[in-house]
Amino acid sequence: MTYVAFLLFLCLISCVPSSSYAQNADLKLPLKAVNLGNWLVTEDAMKPSRFDGINNKDLLDGTQVQFLSTKLNKYLCSENGGGTVVVANRPSASGWETFRLWRVNETYFNFRVFNKQFVGLGSQGIEAVSNTPTDSETFQIVRNDGDLNRVRLRAANGLFLQAQTETLVTADYAGSSWDDNDPSVFKMTIVVNNLHGEFQITNGYGPDKAPQVMQDHWNSYITEEDFNFMSANGLTAVRIPVGWWIAQDPNPPKPFVGGSLEALDRAFTWAEKYGMKVIVDLHALKASQNGNEHSGARDGYQEWGDSNIEETVAVIEFLAARYTGRPSLAAIELMNEPVAPGVTFDALTKYYKAGHDAVRKHTNAYVILSNRLGPVDSKELLSFASSLDRVVIDVHFYNLFSEGFNNMNVQQNIDFINNQRSSDLSTLTSANGPLVFVGEWTAEFARNDASKEDYQRFAQAQLDVYGRATFGWGYWAYKCEQNHWSLRWMIENNYIKL
Ligand SMILES: *[C@@H]1O[C@H](CO)[C@@H](O)[C@H](O)[C@H]1NC(C)=O
Repeated sequence: MTYVAFLLFLCLISCVPSSSYAQNADLKLPLKAVNLGNWLVTEDAMKPSRFDGINNKDLLDGTQVQFLSTKLNKYLCSENGGGTVVVANRPSASGWETFRLWRVNETYFNFRVFNKQFVGLGSQGIEAVSNTPTDSETFQIVRNDGDLNRVRLRAANGLFLQAQTETLVTADYAGSSWDDNDPSVFKMTIVVNNLHGEFQITNGYGPDKAPQVMQDHWNSYITEEDFNFMSANGLTAVRIPVGWWIAQDPNPPKPFVGGSLEALDRAFTWAEKYGMKVIVDLHALKASQNGNEHSGARDGYQEWGDSNIEETVAVIEFLAARYTGRPSLAAIELMNEPVAPGVTFDALTKYYKAGHDAVRKHTNAYVILSNRLGPVDSKELLSFASSLDRVVIDVHFYNLFSEGFNNMNVQQNIDFINNQRSSDLSTLTSANGPLVFVGEWTAEFARNDASKEDYQRFAQAQLDVYGRATFGWGYWAYKCEQNHWSLRWMIENNYIKL
């Protein structure tokens, strides 16, 4: 044995944790997986009723509102988009006239403006200069009983905000009428209300109610019986979306609540019992990698970047260390659906390298790298990934979310799978490169008129093509109120047979 070979030998026995051999020893690729979406990371559309118990549930974090002064018939506007005064002189509303809510409790809010400052009390009237909300940036939205979108805004000094003139908005009004010519009355329009994720549900219920509501959900949404069902029906793995706060369980930062880690532990136990594998997928990153509700975003701003790499690697290392001893751990996915150009190639690959190395300190389980969504070359990670060990590229294939699909008939949708998706997969597949995983797909498509047989054919085409992905595929999702998005429903109703 040469010295170099001896060093390598030493490294092999010491650098790679021994438990990791068990992890991949019996891994049968490709995997047939299903996503346990809306379990540990909330997505409202999959079960909207979870939000029903929240007061003022139309005013959750990230809701975007505009305020029209009924007296002046002009919109409130953060001049220049922020950094200076708030005025009331705009006849129509767009970005600078739109305010994103940060919910303090069910009636008190902060208003975040276009350039991300918060509306607050200034010496010359209302302004948007503070980068962090304090009491002076907190307002009560007082809604009119007869018309909830007729509001008055009470400032921290107890007085109401009033549009005195088009260029002077102050918080010094003590009146209480709801008349149109009252300078403190505004028509509030909710213009965007598309965030209903983990942040919104936990902050919406608040610290008294959220822990129980979430615990009940985690206990009931996915149970041992589900693992029994999955394994009996030919599924071999689950992909489990988790949020960054899981690493701080049982006391994650507010408003998140503890308990999701125990639920994940249970999933590993059930997976072992029913012979399934687990992919842990970091779906929600602090500061948000895509602005979507399923990233845990508070207000829709996508802010993940270089300064978040270290803390995100720490989450990955926490997960790797915790589950390294579990034989069912198949892979850890470092980040779900980063969106370009907000997440840059440089920041992403720097993070992927560090995340990969953090996983390797504990286990040789696969490391999954999500392709960026947005205007990028789908092969952009290939050569980078080839320098790493046991990695997988994750692509998500939906015949949805873009105009082109709306005009396709059923056969065209199927042809698109057989031609375009098939070639997309071939392009990503190379003998010595990373494996490929179609980590999300669904049998739903933009055909409201499709018959059961159409769905069967569309699903089968995808099973055939995605079955060639070297690492496997993952249906989105296991359980969902919209039937075609629920693999359980699709199997029980004979739309899909594995
Ligand atoms: C809501 O927050 C405001 C501002 O911090 C506080 O004054 C008020 O007491 C809170 N209300 C409830 C019900 O907690």
